[in-house]
Amino acid sequence: MIELDGVTKTFDGTIQALHEVSFFVPTGSVCALLGHNGAGKTTAIKILSTLLRPSSGRAVVAGCDVVKEPAKVRASIGSIGQFAALDFELTGRENMVLFGRLRGMRRKQARLRADALIHQFDMSHAADRQVRTYSGGMLRRIDIAAGLMVTPKVIFLDEPTTGLDPRSRRNVWGLVSSLAAEGVTILLTTQYLEEADVLSDSIVLLSNGRIVANGTAEDLKRRVGPGYCTVSPVNPADLSKIFAVVSELDGAEADYEANTVSVLAPDGVATLGEVFRRVDRLGVELVDIALRKPSLDEAFLHLTESVTT
Ligand SMILES: Nc1ncnc2c1ncn2[C@@H]1O[C@H](COP(=O)(O)OP(=O)(O)O)[C@@H](O)[C@H]1O
Ligand SMILES: [Mg+2]
Repeated sequence: MIELDGVTKTFDGTIQALHEVSFFVPTGSVCALLGHNGAGKTTAIKILSTLLRPSSGRAVVAGCDVVKEPAKVRASIGSIGQFAALDFELTGRENMVLFGRLRGMRRKQARLRADALIHQFDMSHAADRQVRTYSGGMLRRIDIAAGLMVTPKVIFLDEPTTGLDPRSRRNVWGLVSSLAAEGVTILLTTQYLEEADVLSDSIVLLSNGRIVANGTAEDLKRRVGPGYCTVSPVNPADLSKIFAVVSELDGAEADYEANTVSVLAPDGVATLGEVFRRVDRLGVELVDIALRKPSLDEAFLHLTESVTT
């Protein structure tokens, strides 16, 4: 449904915002474009939504080339992330009906669709207030709802949750999931690894305009290598005893400040079992013994570092 093939974008002949970026998003799936500030996320979204032309390479959305058939591409995508298009003096409901009318809906059809979306997005309490009275989270929701008056095949969401409080963020997450369930193909950008992990079927990790990793959250974690096993005693004085019995294992380390001994766990649960047997013989009381997998944050740091160094 979305395909980029060697897309490069250079600004002013020198700033390379995207370099040979290629990836593919299947119909009905959610892809997260993940990266730090300036990684090239917005540039990619703008190219896909025909607001910018690639310097070279090819991009196809819903079967249409973004350079050769921009009007057809625009007809299949959701126009979301354009607060500017909302009329702040009108109510949320009036804005939604207006958006529908502009997309060619009849008045009655637009009203019914607005009612359904207001219900779906849990906005009944605010739908008949002027948009200028809305909170940031409400604005984000009305903006997305207005863009859905005509259900698009593809939706681009550029950092839909940046700057939102945790509750509004979860609302947007729920919304993305319900859209995905309706079969809409979604490409969203985020700086939050947790968000990419929760929401997406696949992740494309961008750093300085280049793809540094592409796969599922699990793939990314696996690429960072094994997890590790940690042990914490109730009595910090037992830490050195614990360290002594596991010190010959790979990557054994004692952190006295954190009251934790850790060991690399290339064999996962088998390593955990080995550590447990050794520590159990000591007869010391433990607060915690666990197998920890690398978090996506660690994956991100590791994968971006290996490119820059
Ligand atoms: N219109 C523009 N003119 C010049 N440079 C730009 C323009 N838009 C973006 N850039 C540069 O391209 C790079 C990628 O920007 P952007 O796609 O906005 O990143 P992100 O959305 O991941 O934060 C940055 O270095 C940015 O300064
Ligand atoms: Mg951006």
